[in-house]
Amino acid sequence: MTAILAVSLDGKLAKPTAREERMASAYDFQHLEEQVAQADAVLFGATTLRLGGTAMRLQSPTLIAARVRAGQPPQPLQIVCSASGDLDPELPFFRQPIPRALVTTVAGAQRWQGSAAFDYCWFGDRPDWDWSDLLGQIAAAGIQRLAVLGGGQLFASLVQAQAIDELWLTVCPLLLGAAAPSLMPLAAGSSPYMRLLSAAPVADEVYLHYRLSYDEGKGTIIDS
Ligand SMILES: NC(=O)c1ccc[n+]([C@@H]2O[C@H](COP(=O)([O-])OP(=O)(O)OC[C@H]3O[C@@H](n4cnc5c(N)ncnc54)[C@H](OP(=O)(O)O)[C@@H]3O)[C@@H](O)[C@H]2O)c1
Repeated sequence: MTAILAVSLDGKLAKPTAREERMASAYDFQHLEEQVAQADAVLFGATTLRLGGTAMRLQSPTLIAARVRAGQPPQPLQIVCSASGDLDPELPFFRQPIPRALVTTVAGAQRWQGSAAFDYCWFGDRPDWDWSDLLGQIAAAGIQRLAVLGGGQLFASLVQAQAIDELWLTVCPLLLGAAAPSLMPLAAGSSPYMRLLSAAPVADEVYLHYRLSYDEGKGTIIDS
C-alpha cells in the first residue's frame, strides 16, 4: 500500500483557514495522478471527503487509456473510510462517474443499507476498528494495489497498523502553524524505518519517496 501526500515544512496537510484546498503545485497534481493511475483502489478519510466534496478522479486521457489497454477499469475504485458512515448523499462525490466503496462499522453500514450509492461496503464485526480484517476483505475482492491519499487520521492509523509500504511525500515551501491539520495526528509509538528511495527538488517543492519497514528495533520512538 502506497501513501501519497503533500506536507508543509512543519508537517501540516492543509491551511487552517482553507482546509479543503490543495496546497501543492500543478506539477504535484500530475505526480499524484500518475500514482493514482497505478492503483486498483484509492483510500481516503471521511473528513477529507466532507471538506472537498469529491474524490480524486483520473482526468488524463493518456493515463486512462493506459489502464484500459492493461485490462484495468478506467477509474480506480474510490474507497471512503468512515467509522460513523455519516456522509451527505448530496455530496458531488456521489454524482462522479467512478466506482465507490465504503469502509465502515456495523452502525455505519446500517446507514447505507438498501442504498445503491456504494458498489461495495466493507465493515468489521467487532466494535473496535480492525484494519487487518478490513484490508483482508478489500484484498478478497481482488484489490491488490491501494493508494492512500489521506488525511492525517487515516494515514496515521494505517501506519499504526503497519499497513503502509511506501510513502510519496511532497514537501511544500509553507509553514502553516499549530492550527493546521497534521500528517501524524495520532500517537505513533514506534515509527517504521524509512529508507529513502529517491529525492527530487522541483521548483520550491521536494519529492521524497520512502520504503517503510516495520522490523522491530529499526524504528525511531516518536513522542506523542
Ligand atoms: N496535503 C495532502 O496531501 C492532503 C491529503 C488529504 C487530505 N488533506 C487534508 O487533510 C485534512 C483532513 O485530515 P484529517 O486527519 O482531519 O481527516 P481524515 O483522515 O481525512 O478523515 C478522518 C475521518 O475518517 C474516518 N477515519 C479515518 N481513519 C479511521 C480509522 N482508522 N478508524 C475509523 N475511522 C477512520 C473517520 O470518519 P467518521 O468521522 O465518519 O467516523 C474520521 O473522522 C483536510 O484538511 C484535507 O484537505 C491533505
